[in-house]
Amino acid sequence: MSTIEEEFIATVSHELRTPLTSIRGFSQTLLNSWDKIKDDDKKKFIGIIEEQSNRLIHLVENILSVSKMNTENQVLKRIDVNNSIKKIIPLIKEQYKEHNYETHFFSNLPEARLDDDKFQQIMTNLLDNASKYSEAGKKVSIITGISNNMIVIKVRDEGVGIKKEDYDKIFKKFSRLENHLTSKTQGNGLGLYITKELVEKMGGTISFESKENEGTTFEIKFPFYNQEDALKCSHMS
Ligand SMILES: Nc1ncnc2c1ncn2[C@@H]1O[C@H](COP(=O)(O)OP(=O)(O)OP(=O)(O)O)[C@@H](O)[C@H]1O
Ligand SMILES: [Mg+2]
Repeated sequence: MSTIEEEFIATVSHELRTPLTSIRGFSQTLLNSWDKIKDDDKKKFIGIIEEQSNRLIHLVENILSVSKMNTENQVLKRIDVNNSIKKIIPLIKEQYKEHNYETHFFSNLPEARLDDDKFQQIMTNLLDNASKYSEAGKKVSIITGISNNMIVIKVRDEGVGIKKEDYDKIFKKFSRLENHLTSKTQGNGLGLYITKELVEKMGGTISFESKENEGTTFEIKFPFYNQEDALKCSHMS
């Protein structure tokens, strides 16, 4: 086994152990002292067990995504990016009820050559981060457009931002940065690693701009499905 694989397994085991230890601890306390625990506390402990189970499910799903990335074939099809994004927004809104989501869709956007499931996973990760790393009530904007014969999608937030010294860490596996919202939110630092891999595997690019305490914009670009669209659009971009 290579050192990289060994390191991966060691990190995964550590990430698995933390929620499992907590689930076991709270279950044991409930089982052993059921009659002595106040109802409010019982509810609180069960809440923690549920939260930690969700954390485990999220981790296992992300680890599966990492392991499938190199083996699973892509199903590249003609995708209307605006339509695909429209399907994800209600799911994100359901999770982050207090954020305000705004869309600025470029009309007559040419189709992209994408695997729709993977594109949705990319957008979900970016929207999840934009929401998670900004306070409730803030605006998250999704902007589509074209530039140099590429489809451009931007996800802009008004959140904590990313420090310059952290720029080279964010796409690395298991890297979470220090800010007051990272410590309050859950995550394993796999989302952006997976996102970058998926974007690049479909011929796209990903970049970001950020200002601390003002916000971050992630930008992804994908080629058009038809090269003729490039000619038609060259005067529009
Ligand atoms: N929009 C953003 N604004 C500020 N910081 C961000 C943003 N997106 C990512 N980050 C920082 O980059 C780190 C890595 O992001 P990534 O999505 O890979 O992991 P995560 O959100 O912590 O966990 P996961 O996505 O696996 O649930 C985050 O922990 C956070 O510190
Ligand atoms: Mg994330």
